Amino acid sequence: MLDKYGPWAVITGASSGIGAEFARQLASQRFNVVLVARRKQRLQLLAAQLRTTFQVKTVVIVADLTSVEDLERVVQETSAIEVGLLINNAGMETHGPFLSSSQQALQQLIALNICAVTHLAHAYGNRMCAQKRGGIIFVSSLSSSGIPYLSAYSSSKAYVSTLAGTLHQEFRQHGVCCMALEPGFVESEMTLPKESALGKHAATSMMPVNVCVSEALRVFGTRTFCTPGFMNRLRKVALRMLPRSLAMWIVAACLRYSQSRGRINN
Ligand SMILES: NC(=O)c1ccc[n+]([C@@H]2O[C@H](COP(=O)([O-])OP(=O)(O)OC[C@H]3O[C@@H](n4cnc5c(N)ncnc54)[C@H](OP(=O)(O)O)[C@@H]3O)[C@@H](O)[C@H]2O)c1
Repeated sequence: MLDKYGPWAVITGASSGIGAEFARQLASQRFNVVLVARRKQRLQLLAAQLRTTFQVKTVVIVADLTSVEDLERVVQETSAIEVGLLINNAGMETHGPFLSSSQQALQQLIALNICAVTHLAHAYGNRMCAQKRGGIIFVSSLSSSGIPYLSAYSSSKAYVSTLAGTLHQEFRQHGVCCMALEPGFVESEMTLPKESALGKHAATSMMPVNVCVSEALRVFGTRTFCTPGFMNRLRKVALRMLPRSLAMWIVAACLRYSQSRGRINN
């Protein structure tokens, strides 16, 4: 993996959850890592751990990826190093009825989940295609098929998955691989019961973060779409076999039922 996609990996949303785990597993494979997120202390602590444990180089970039200036700064601050891998991971969710989310939260979600992902794919895709090697993992979601009560989030992930799949076809002739990682529920801050109502709902089917990331890294370069976990793949296939409107109706009915039983509180 290091030969093909090293020596540096840029990981967005590296201060917790899936992004931090990508940083740990890539560093364990001797990748040097650029850690990007807003929480400086978290990033610095992780960077120190990775340097000590795996003797790799690290760069910490504190950035709010909803800001175009910060996005440009990330790209500029990594211009002198050879980036072979981008983990386009940072994301946020809004959950509950669409109308209960503020306009501001929805704009922020679009800026982070769609605009930042696109900006970085363009910037690093350009560089990688020019250097004729590299890879981008887009962290999407199983919800990309469209989940009511996760409407803006799941729609943003539909964009991310489509972008990954289409760019893979455009970039592969330049030696660059793209993959959409579409996990189901994964243990992270996003799904902590106190943070996320859906986390409560999903507590029984939660995947440990290291399992999700190791499966993604294991298949990267051989698949365009990766859904870790047999049960998640089964859910994906089942949802795809139904007419879309019926699949969405069933999911909405299940979520409303859970809400009425007090398992989801919006
Ligand atoms: N957990 C799941 O069940 C699940 C399932 C499918 C897909 N995903 C996707 O996986 C990705 C990672 O999520 P996670 O589960 O690991 O959740 P998480 O632990 O909440 O991590 C989110 C990461 O994004 C960063 N981030 C949030 N807003 C940011 C901003 N404006 N600028 C820069 N960084 C920002 C956070 O860092 P700071 O707060 O320090 O900025 C954090 O490092 C997301 O794209 C999510 O949609 C998660």
